[in-house]
Amino acid sequence: MSSPILTLSATHSGRDVPKDPVDLLLSKMTLEEKIGQLQQVDASADPLPDDLIEGVRTGRIGSVINLAQTDACNRLQRVAVEESRLGIPLLMGRDVIHGFRTIFPIPLGQAASWNPDLVRQAARISALEARSQGVHWTFAPMIDISRDPRWGRIAESFGEDPFLTGLLGSAMVEGFQAGDLSGHGAILACAKHFVGYGASEGGRDYSTTNIPANELRNIYLEPFRRVVEAGAATLMTSFSDLDGVPATANGALLNGVLRAEWGFDGLVVSDWNAVNELIVHGLCEDSRSAAAEAALAGVDMEMAGDAYARHLTGLIDDGVISMGLIDQMVSRVLHLKHQLGLFEQPYTDAAGFEPLVSDRALDVAYQAAVESLVLLKNAGEVLPLSASQLGSIAVVGPLADAPHEQMGTWVFDGQSGDSVTPLQALRQQFSGKIDVHYAPGLETSRSRSNAMFEAAEAAVRKSDVALVFLGEESILSGEAHSRADIRLPGAQSELLARIRAIGKPVVTVVLAGRPLVLTNDLPHTDALLFGWHPGTMGGPAIAAVLFGDEAPRGKLPATFPKSVGQVPIYYNHKNTGRPPNASEMVLIDDIEVGARQTSLGMSAFYLDDGAEPLFPFGFGLSYGQFELRNLELSQPAIGLRDRLKIRLTARNTGVRFGFETVQLYVRDIAGSLTRPVKELKAFRRVGLAPGQSETVEFELGAADLSFYRRDGSFGPEPGRFSIWAATRSDGGLQAEFTLDA
Ligand code: NOJ
Repeated sequence: MSSPILTLSATHSGRDVPKDPVDLLLSKMTLEEKIGQLQQVDASADPLPDDLIEGVRTGRIGSVINLAQTDACNRLQRVAVEESRLGIPLLMGRDVIHGFRTIFPIPLGQAASWNPDLVRQAARISALEARSQGVHWTFAPMIDISRDPRWGRIAESFGEDPFLTGLLGSAMVEGFQAGDLSGHGAILACAKHFVGYGASEGGRDYSTTNIPANELRNIYLEPFRRVVEAGAATLMTSFSDLDGVPATANGALLNGVLRAEWGFDGLVVSDWNAVNELIVHGLCEDSRSAAAEAALAGVDMEMAGDAYARHLTGLIDDGVISMGLIDQMVSRVLHLKHQLGLFEQPYTDAAGFEPLVSDRALDVAYQAAVESLVLLKNAGEVLPLSASQLGSIAVVGPLADAPHEQMGTWVFDGQSGDSVTPLQALRQQFSGKIDVHYAPGLETSRSRSNAMFEAAEAAVRKSDVALVFLGEESILSGEAHSRADIRLPGAQSELLARIRAIGKPVVTVVLAGRPLVLTNDLPHTDALLFGWHPGTMGGPAIAAVLFGDEAPRGKLPATFPKSVGQVPIYYNHKNTGRPPNASEMVLIDDIEVGARQTSLGMSAFYLDDGAEPLFPFGFGLSYGQFELRNLELSQPAIGLRDRLKIRLTARNTGVRFGFETVQLYVRDIAGSLTRPVKELKAFRRVGLAPGQSETVEFELGAADLSFYRRDGSFGPEPGRFSIWAATRSDGGLQAEFTLDA
C-alpha cells in the first residue's frame, strides 16, 4: 500500500492549498512531526526497542540508520506508512562504503585504478544490492583529502589529490544515485565529511584540524565543489574542529560556501551525535545551544543524537529559530523521500532485483580488484610468473588465506564466506599442475611469535618461488583506527627477512588499509605488489596479475613515505623558499665529523631521509616498459578563451603487453598566492603491446588553471606555466606555456 498523503494532494484545489506535494504535506504537519523528520535514529538493536517503534508510529522519527534487511525494513516502514498519522515513509540509511554484500576494494584501492567508470559501476552494484535490502541512503563517498597515512580513515578516501578525488567521488555519486534518483535501485549518496576531517592533527582520528583559508578552498573544498556539481543529494558534516569552529556548527561553510555560493539544495546531515559533541568540543555549554548552533549553521538532520528532538521546540518558542527555517529543513527531507519514490512505493520487493553477489557483481568486483593492484617493484622482471615453468609455489604469510581481512574496513553486510582468498584462487587455478605449499608463518598480521616460521621456511625451501602475503588486518584501518607506526605490524618484517635468506625468488603481496612504510622490507623481496584490501574477489585478481593473465595498471593515489617522520609528505606541496636540491643535500652517514653548520646545504630536507618519498603519488609499474616522447604544445601562449592542445607519444619498449597511465601536471609558476609545485590536471590510460606506440592528447583551458586567488575570487592568473607529461608525479617530459590576459 502506498502512502495516502501525496496522492491526496492531487485532489486539493483550494486557492491557498500549496501545489507542491511537499508543501502540501508540510502544511498538515504539527511541529512535533516536523522535528521528527529531522531526526535519524540508530536502529541496529535486534529486536528494535519499543520506544523506537513508538517514535515511528507517532511521527517523531523520520529516518533510521543501520537497518538493512528487506523484511525488517518493510516491517518498520509499515509502522511509518500505515500507523502514523500522516503516513510519511522512513528514509533508511546504512554505511555502504565499498560494497553492500559484494565487497569491492576499499576506496583507496579503487582510487588506485584511476578509473572513474569502474568506480561508477561498483557504486551502481552496491546501490542495487543495498536497495534490494531496503536501504535508501548510503554515507559515501568519503572525499576527505588524506595526506596522512597514519589516519585510519585514509582507507576510506580516494587519497591525497583534489582532482582525482573529485573525479572519482563524482563517479561514485553517479553510480549510487543512478542519475536523477528515480532510476531502479538508486540510493542517495552522501559526500562526507564537510570539511577538513582528513587534516586531523598527527593523523589521530577526530583530532583538531587547522587549515589555512587558501588551502581549505583549493585542496579540501575542491572535491566537494565537484561532487555538488555532479548532483550529490546529501552531505555529512565532519566531526572535527576546524580553525576553532567545529564543522557541525560552521555556518560560514554550510550556509555560506555550500548553499549560497555553490547553490547546493540537498540535505545536510550531522555525523553521529556530532551536534551534542559541540559541547565536548567546548563550543557550547549545553545540548540546547548545540542544537541552535547546528540548525542555524545549516545542519538539517541530526544523526543518532537527541539535541534536535529535545530542544528545537523550545528554540522556536524563544524565537532563536524560526518556523521558516524548520520548514526549509523538513522540506529538504521530504523532497528526497519524494524523489526516491518512497511515497508511491515505500516497501522493498527484493524479487525485483538481481540476487546478492550475482555473477555480474562478482565480475565488477574482480575487475575493480585487478585495477586496484599497484606493482611497486619488479626486479629482474620476476613477474609475471610463468605457470609452465614452475613445479611448486610456497604461499606464505598471515594474509594469504584471510577471507575477513581482505574485505577491509567498513564492511557491515559483506560476508567472509563470499571472499575468495589468494590461497584459494591459486589452489583452484593450479590444482594437479603446480604444488602449492601453504604455511602462514604468523597467525595474524600482528603476531609477534616466530613459532611458525620454521614451517614457512620449510615450505619455501621445497618450492620454486615464495609468494608472501603480508599487511594489515582490516581492523587496523578505518574509523578510530589510526596508527603511529605504519611499518608492517607484528613479526612480518622478520618473517620476510627469514624467507629472503633462503635464496628463492620472493614475491611479496601487501594487503593493507593505508600506505605503509616498507623501506626496510623492499630489499627482501624481488617483487612487491600492493593490493590494499581488495574485497571479495581479491584472490583471483591477485593470482591473475601474478601469473600474467592480467597486466598490473594501478597507480598510487597517495604518497608512500620512507619513514613516518616524513609525514605529511604529498606531491602537490608548495615549493618553499629553499626547495631541496640534490647537489646540496648531505645525508647523515656522510657528514664529516666536526662539520660546520652551513656545510650540509641550506634546503628543505631531512638529514636521515632526504626529501623524496619511498614511492611518489602516481607511481605504479606494469609488465611493459614505457617511454614518453615528443611532448608538443599547440602553441606557446594561449588566451583566456583558448584551449591548449598537448600531444605526446607513449611507447611500450618492453617485451610484454602492459598499461601506462599518462599523467598531465601543471605548475603555475608565480601567483597571487604561492601555488603547488605540481597539480594533476588530466590523465589517460593506454594499453600497449611490445613495440607499440600511441599518441596521447590532452586539452587545457583557463578553467583548468583556475584557483581561489589571494582576493578570494576564483579564476586563472595570466603568466607562465610549466607542464609535464609523466608516468608518475615526479619527473616526466616538461614544457612551458603562457596564459595571456
Ligand atoms: C561516523 C562516521 O564518521 C561516518 O562516516 C559514518 O557514516 C557514520 N558514523 C554512520 O555510521
